[in-house]
Amino acid sequence: MAARGEFSSRTAFVLAAAGSAIGLGNIWGFPIQVASNGGGAFVFTYIILTFLLAYPVLMAELIIGRHAKRDTVSSIVVLSGPRSRWLAYLTGFWGMLTASLILSFYAIVAGWMLAHFFGAGANLLGQTDLKQWFVSNSLTRNLIFCVAFYALTISIIARGVTSGIERWSTRLMPMLLVLMVLLIAYIATQPGAAEGWRIYWQPDFSQVANPDLVLDALGQAFFSLSLGVGTMMVYGSYISKSENLPRLGASVAILDIGVAVLAGLLVIPAMYVAQHNGVTIYDAAGNLLASDSLIFTVLPALFETMGGAGVITSILFFSLMTIAALTSSISMLEVPVAYASDSLGMERRRASYMVGGLVLLISVLIIFNFGALFGLVIAFTTKYSEPLIGLLFCVFVGWIWARNEILQEIQQGAEGAENSLFWRIWPNYVKFVCPLLILLLFWRSLA
Ligand code: PHE
Repeated sequence: MAARGEFSSRTAFVLAAAGSAIGLGNIWGFPIQVASNGGGAFVFTYIILTFLLAYPVLMAELIIGRHAKRDTVSSIVVLSGPRSRWLAYLTGFWGMLTASLILSFYAIVAGWMLAHFFGAGANLLGQTDLKQWFVSNSLTRNLIFCVAFYALTISIIARGVTSGIERWSTRLMPMLLVLMVLLIAYIATQPGAAEGWRIYWQPDFSQVANPDLVLDALGQAFFSLSLGVGTMMVYGSYISKSENLPRLGASVAILDIGVAVLAGLLVIPAMYVAQHNGVTIYDAAGNLLASDSLIFTVLPALFETMGGAGVITSILFFSLMTIAALTSSISMLEVPVAYASDSLGMERRRASYMVGGLVLLISVLIIFNFGALFGLVIAFTTKYSEPLIGLLFCVFVGWIWARNEILQEIQQGAEGAENSLFWRIWPNYVKFVCPLLILLLFWRSLA
């Protein structure tokens, strides 16, 4: 077992799992959803749903993973009996496919972030033509930066759990936090920022009961905590048996929410500073511009209006985005790589190159058929697969796995867990409430 690797400390796990959770979903997705979904009302609904639905599913993944200490497919198979084995394979493979497909579109977007980072660097050096090439959408640019981003992701995963995932998460996550705080503080001093702060906190509560808003918030909560694809399960499989799982899970959820809320304090005021400086942020019909133009047109336009400070701000902003994306993409690639090494017995380095290369091919396919595939893959993975697989995880924990075995797993590292509030609520909660709520929301979204 030792050959599998294990996080060397509690902090290492929390930073790695928070690194997975905190990504483009927090810094890009969340603020945009807030801005287009009733401001504080979305923040409020999102936080409630994270505790109500996402945290319990996160715990299901962590407990299953640490119990089996194997890749996701075998972890679920271990829990199943002869009659549920097919369901276990279905869940495991579907999760692995979803993780790979999420990586395939995520790496394209991350490549754009990387390109903009280089663009800002070229700008700093006065290379305007080069900068223009970096920031303009072209097939060549997209391919080159997507491949570069895979190279980064694969090189970390190939090094394994401690020297790859753990080492890079513990280096990059503190950097991410510092960058974020610096950027928030700087944007806050700019004219127009106050309007953004006001809108961010001002909830339009008439929106809270809006089913679309609730569904968006649920999707956001699942995506943001990296749920329903086996990522947290496989990270859970590298947690030592002496750690307290409910507490670790809570730390990760709180960090994830915290950074999403912080990201709102960065992106939303920045939008209003942009508006103050004459950049358009609403279209003719009064709707917020689409989310990709907000990040890749509005923010760069804002940085342009800020002179020398804008160049630096732009470098910091796009390095923040790239770091956030990288600590998430490694966790996606880890799902199929763990399967290739644990279940197929492949050597880790080889597995990383092969699996990474395969997923890269999917990205290339998407880049060449962008209009037809990009939105489709995002909808299939984040809107449908993640909540449904999350539901299946609840079914395994609630209905298939023997409850005393679950308790024994939790008790390792959490003495007296049988009397804890967590144990009094969680088992029946994942058995009945989570599946029902997910189904209900799902049914509404299809209707
Ligand atoms: N949680 C990541 C984000 O917010 C995305 C992600 C989804 C990562 C699924 C891993 C698995 O950007």
